[in-house]
Amino acid sequence: MSSVELEYERVFDALPEMILVVDREDRVVAQNRQASDRLFGARKSSSIETIFAPDRRDEMLRRLHESFEGLSIETQVVDRAGVTVDVHVDAKHVRAGRRTLTVVIARDITEQKRKELDLLRYSNVIHYTINPIQITDAQGKMVYVNPAFERESGYSKDELIGQNPRVFGSGKHDRAFWKGVWEHILSGKVWVGQVENRRKDGTAFHTELVISPIIDQKGGIAGFLGAHRDITEQKMLQEQLVRSQRMESIGTLAAGIAHEVGNPLTAISSLVQVLQRTSSDRFITEKLELIDSQISRIARIIRELVDFSRPSSHVVKDVSLNHVIREALSIIQYGKRVKDIKFSVLYADDLPTIRAVSDQLVQVFINVLINAVDALEGKSGSIAIETLHTAHAVGATVRDTGKGIAKAELERIFEPFYTTKAVGQGTGLGLWVSYGIVKGFGGNIEVESAPGEGSTFHITFPTTKN
Ligand SMILES: Nc1ncnc2c1ncn2[C@@H]1O[C@H](COP(=O)(O)OP(=O)(O)OP(=O)(O)O)[C@@H](O)[C@H]1O
Ligand SMILES: [Mg+2]
Repeated sequence: MSSVELEYERVFDALPEMILVVDREDRVVAQNRQASDRLFGARKSSSIETIFAPDRRDEMLRRLHESFEGLSIETQVVDRAGVTVDVHVDAKHVRAGRRTLTVVIARDITEQKRKELDLLRYSNVIHYTINPIQITDAQGKMVYVNPAFERESGYSKDELIGQNPRVFGSGKHDRAFWKGVWEHILSGKVWVGQVENRRKDGTAFHTELVISPIIDQKGGIAGFLGAHRDITEQKMLQEQLVRSQRMESIGTLAAGIAHEVGNPLTAISSLVQVLQRTSSDRFITEKLELIDSQISRIARIIRELVDFSRPSSHVVKDVSLNHVIREALSIIQYGKRVKDIKFSVLYADDLPTIRAVSDQLVQVFINVLINAVDALEGKSGSIAIETLHTAHAVGATVRDTGKGIAKAELERIFEPFYTTKAVGQGTGLGLWVSYGIVKGFGGNIEVESAPGEGSTFHITFPTTKN
């Protein structure tokens, strides 16, 4: 062996790859240290056939016999201990005098395979989780969003990649807030908090957000992973709870006041009557009459307050919502104020009944209808009423084309004494009493409105159980 050949041998032995030289009869005629150590041990003359995993043998021999420029393929070999190993094989034909030999270079890719599989597992988890997830680069530009994120935000992947997550910010959190977040994550720490975002269609969605920096091998920040958990529903339920608790406490307070005021008022009222009967002075009787009418007004308000909080003494029956609405309409459709208003009614067929007190429901619809008439402010317009039902609920909507309600007021219209009407025109008890009645029968009353766009009241009740 020449010294040059010796040099080559040393170089080949130092390589991490397994290198084999094979003749046309598949015999291994030379191999480096890696190959002999891992595959053959001392058995130098073995056929190459035996090194491939049984199910790969035929294919590999066929491929090695084919003519090729260079073969590059993933396959499996069995090492001397009988363990199957994933390898990447590069092969080349070389001419050596009159013989054609094949050089086979096999690189162990077990570790690489394992990493790929890990990566595949992680990326699948991220891709298919129900939590909206976004990945940004170190500058904060989005490089990945999962399908849940597209669903939740209403934006498509293509609209988001390359953008700053600011695109779905709600503007509810100020600069200082986001600066704090950035400082936190740039220092390599995980940030957790609640954020309000905005979907493409403009609606809000609340999420709990976890932002964790993605650290590369050198310890630098390669990007950020943001995982959201949708808490919109939870937020809504919380708000609803707060609202209904507030209504309840206001109700208790009002009932207490009504009770305390009611008794002295009755006393005053009977004293006035006594005076009226005994006095013959014109002036005095006139003033007493005025007092009496004011007392009646207070008494009416008090009665409404008490009605709200006291369980109804009327009889609960199976009631048809269509009947109720017909009756309410027949009452309010008289009078000059409604002459320019176009009423349209759509009664659902086969409307299931609800358990309620008919008179009280009529009162609810009279309140809502009078409000609708008032909202038209004497101008022409329309009021549309519709009844409908689902599997478990019966409902009615009352839609007017009136002045509408500002967002800030929507919260308050069901509160007692909240009115935008002139003194003497409204006490602000109508909707409050209606709310109490509807809730009392297990129902719900909601409003949708915007200034200048009219209002729609939805009133629903559970259907009578059979
Ligand atoms: N359909 C509607 N369109 C516009 N605003 C409405 C409508 N319904 C109610 N509102 C607003 O809600 C307020 C409260 O209504 P509510 O029926 O409780 O009291 P009110 O009508 O003012 O007085 P009351 O019914 O006691 O005579 C109204 O003053 C009005 O500002
Ligand atoms: Mg009213």
